[in-house]
Amino acid sequence: MAPHSLQVRGLAKRYGDATVFANVDLDVAPGEFVAIVGDSGVGKSTLLNCLAGLDTWDAGTVAHGGTGIGALDGDARARWRRAHVGFVFQAFHVLPHLDVAQNVALPLLLLHRPDDARVQAMLDAVGLHGLGARLPQQLSGGQLQRVAIARALVHRPALLLADEPTGNLDPGTAAQVMDLLVRETRGHGAALVLVTHSGAAARRADRVLRLRGDGIVPATPA
Ligand SMILES: Nc1ncnc2c1ncn2[C@@H]1O[C@H](COP(=O)(O)OP(=O)(O)OP(=O)(O)O)[C@@H](O)[C@H]1O
Ligand SMILES: [Mg+2]
Repeated sequence: MAPHSLQVRGLAKRYGDATVFANVDLDVAPGEFVAIVGDSGVGKSTLLNCLAGLDTWDAGTVAHGGTGIGALDGDARARWRRAHVGFVFQAFHVLPHLDVAQNVALPLLLLHRPDDARVQAMLDAVGLHGLGARLPQQLSGGQLQRVAIARALVHRPALLLADEPTGNLDPGTAAQVMDLLVRETRGHGAALVLVTHSGAAARRADRVLRLRGDGIVPATPA
């Protein structure tokens, strides 16, 4: 198996008796971009959280470069995530007491690889040049979303999981952010799994898959 390929087999998630999804099989190769679409509430964010080892599941396996994520204990999982995963959360999860540049720098600091030039380059790339010293509460929703994107990319993760990363952006800014996501993943052999309701974003993907309660199936972008 390629060192950073993602392999999901028979994944199922339930809350009590209610099945969110089941029978999810998914392979994503290094450098590949897969878009996941599906109705609101079908479990797309839950699936991304499982892929990152941020949530637990009820059946099946998630492996990254041959490492079974379910078998790792909490510390090992956190180390794996820090080293290999970038995550753009649907609700951003920007830290309110850190300024914009500190938020973006965080993944590098956790890896003991501080790099101010890289942080500035990522702020420039998402159109936030000059806003590094602002606190998150001084930003718009679309600006916060771009902080989350810069933070997810800054350490060049092998697996980028992005949950509606253009949901708060105008079409022009969304297209620029999609260019950046593709450039920073495909160009470095990273796998990109992007959840979206946007046809424009899904059309950029190598493959589009639709999540349903009973599995994940090929789809065409709207
Ligand atoms: N703690 C919980 N207990 C029970 N059900 C839950 C819990 N958390 C989430 N759910 C349910 O799990 C389902 C999947 O939620 P999820 O956020 O993954 O959906 P989604 O596909 O990302 O939706 P959206 O497109 O609106 O973001 C939803 O129906 C939600 O109500
Ligand atoms: Mg969601």
